[in-house]
Amino acid sequence: MRVLMTGAGGLIGKEARSQLAGRYPLLRLTDMVDVSPAGPGEECVTADICDLAAMEQAMQGIDCVVHLAGMSVEPESNAWEQVLPANIVGTYNVFEAARRAGVRRVVYASSHHAVGYHRRAHVLDGSALPRPDSFYGVSKVAGEALGRLYADKYGLSVVSLRIGAYRPKPMDVRHLSVWISPRDMVELLRCSIEAPLLHYVVAYGMSANTRSIWDNRDAAVLGYRGRDNAEDYAEEVLTSGAPELEGAKPFHGGWYCGWDLGGHGLFID
Ligand SMILES: NC(=O)c1ccc[n+]([C@@H]2O[C@H](COP(=O)([O-])OP(=O)(O)OC[C@H]3O[C@@H](n4cnc5c(N)ncnc54)[C@H](O)[C@@H]3O)[C@@H](O)[C@H]2O)c1
Repeated sequence: MRVLMTGAGGLIGKEARSQLAGRYPLLRLTDMVDVSPAGPGEECVTADICDLAAMEQAMQGIDCVVHLAGMSVEPESNAWEQVLPANIVGTYNVFEAARRAGVRRVVYASSHHAVGYHRRAHVLDGSALPRPDSFYGVSKVAGEALGRLYADKYGLSVVSLRIGAYRPKPMDVRHLSVWISPRDMVELLRCSIEAPLLHYVVAYGMSANTRSIWDNRDAAVLGYRGRDNAEDYAEEVLTSGAPELEGAKPFHGGWYCGWDLGGHGLFID
């Protein structure tokens, strides 16, 4: 298995790089920032995912791409102008380059913000319809749609991971439901890379949280089973955790849902 990881210089990429070191004959790490020096079994490539030719070059000889690169939050200003190139054009380039280079699988870092405006009263599974809570969420819907297209039209094997809140530990009440620990995140990536033949899977990126609001049986199809549980931090979070925005409380996406809502949330079923 020869693996290419985009966004290798980011929070999740760095953790995955360190935990997966030595696991694959080749781990090629790419990011727009320099991630060298390469360790044993690694190659480092500085490239922008907005550069299709550079992506195609980076994917030569690769079996599986883990696509983490992009804008990982909703920018406070010019959100659309920033997510469009990094998350939509860039993700198209990653899928198209993978197709051209004969890559077998793409593991795509989506986000629960793709479905953030669903109400928490409803448990979501991988079939939940898009309900983005931000332009960032819209970009993740687009990324999932690209993944589905490349799976159905071109036979690429694709896993879309709707990642929850990746943190060393949960920081607020909502995180007790949606947190994913660093070791569970890397285990989910490992399972997504190594799961036998599959066409298209949507799974949620979460630990084994007692208060989960997601039905994650599709992650089990990948062989993933979370080992950490946000509940271990519940007492600390409930006594001193960050408070939630009032307008955000009913929704899966949390505080992104509260921005600019202006009372319209009443009409969201
Ligand atoms: N961290 C979370 O809680 C979380 C939750 C849901 C989804 N995700 C998704 O997981 C992925 C990784 O998240 P993260 O927390 O590691 O993000 P991060 O911001 O720490 O890292 C993103 C990396 O992508 C690189 N990058 C950005 N634009 C690029 C471009 N045009 N070309 C090449 N590289 C570029 C950055 O240099 C950075 O190293 C992101 O796609 C994010 O949207 C993260």
